[in-house]
Amino acid sequence: MKSFLNLNSDELLIEYKNLLKDYNEYKKLNLSLNMSRGKPCAEQLDLSMDLLCGLNEKSDCMSKDGVDCRNYGINDGLPEMKEFISELTGIDKENFIVGGNSSLSMMFDVISYFMTHGSLGNMPWGKQGKIKFLCPSPGYDRHFSISEFFGIEMIEIPMKKDGPDMDLVAKYVSEDSAIKGIWCVPKYSNPQGVTYSNEVVKRFAKLKPAAKDFKIIWDNAYFVHDLTDEETPLLNIIDECKKFGNEEMPIVFYSTSKITFPGAGVAFMACLGQNLKDFKKMYSIKTVGFDKLNQIRHIKFLKNKKTLLEHMKKHRKILRPKFKIVVDYLEKEFKENPILKWCEPKGGYFVSVDTYSNCAKRTVQLCKEAGVILTDAGATYPYKNDRNDSNIRLAPTFPSENELKTAMKLFCLCAKLAFIEKKLEK
Ligand SMILES: Cc1ncc(COP(=O)(O)O)c(C=O)c1O
Repeated sequence: MKSFLNLNSDELLIEYKNLLKDYNEYKKLNLSLNMSRGKPCAEQLDLSMDLLCGLNEKSDCMSKDGVDCRNYGINDGLPEMKEFISELTGIDKENFIVGGNSSLSMMFDVISYFMTHGSLGNMPWGKQGKIKFLCPSPGYDRHFSISEFFGIEMIEIPMKKDGPDMDLVAKYVSEDSAIKGIWCVPKYSNPQGVTYSNEVVKRFAKLKPAAKDFKIIWDNAYFVHDLTDEETPLLNIIDECKKFGNEEMPIVFYSTSKITFPGAGVAFMACLGQNLKDFKKMYSIKTVGFDKLNQIRHIKFLKNKKTLLEHMKKHRKILRPKFKIVVDYLEKEFKENPILKWCEPKGGYFVSVDTYSNCAKRTVQLCKEAGVILTDAGATYPYKNDRNDSNIRLAPTFPSENELKTAMKLFCLCAKLAFIEKKLEK
């Protein structure tokens, strides 16, 4: 195939007319496919059905210490749940709070707490005037929505192959005391699938923030979500920060949302020192206790690291062919016609693509008009503003393989149409 980059206007117009014919045929199919959010498919959810059968007898509801999980109490999580997450993450069990059904809601709680109560004796963020957060981008749209909700100004930080641009992070953080934090998805990042290198984690640990109350929000949502048989290592941010006296900087989050059932899983956070005291106190006021029946159900089902990793292998078996479909289509259609770039992730839930400048919105719109919904273009940037208008997040997990093939054919077609439209417009 001749690259579109080498075609003149007349040749592009011929291509456009041919592609448009195909596109109009797709429109007649009345498709209704959704590739917009990273949701597990039904087959993945089926893997965890036994979770629902774990509590049949009264004795099933007793923790190993004899706590009756049907009742109030134990605010920061069952000890066996803390042991489980500690074995998985290498973080001391004492540093965990086991929460409710959503790690995102714990992140919201943490930001909300700092806004109203501050950290380490400093004035609450909400009373310090304009405050700012660094936002490695493209990133997770819901992190950015939390910042926006609290009126926190967002500063975009470009992502590199091994994590955020740390020169820029170090510079901003050391020079501006209004910068209070940074959002990080350090493993198989959403959407690019980037895992932070050892050097990047170490540079985080060594930061010298101008703000005494600077926080690293370390959202390790995809910590066991490998797509290959080889796990990609990630340094333990808490251990690294301790080495530099920065142990109060990181707050780390995990959940079982994409291990068992999203919205009905178990969330965890870990932090040290005053942070841990503050959040334990906050939760003791916010709730009389999280859902311990769900915690005990999860521990009975997931058991330990070994069994959890076996369970994740089953997810992998379902997901790997789907990611392969996406990457194969991209390779087939764009390897020799490089009007679009993509990342091939080794884990996580997304494939991130970058169209030529100013083509992402139009690509998404064309897909939508033909019945395939993608994440809105721009959603992966603070204020939904991708200045290049080029990033699109593809979420291959939810549709069936056949639906995905159809969606990808259409996506490739739309990306080409959008490119030619832009070119001819000029
Ligand atoms: C990076 C990231 N963090 C958090 C979440 C949500 O996690 P939870 O279901 O535990 O709230 C998601 C869901 O897509 C995510 O991609």
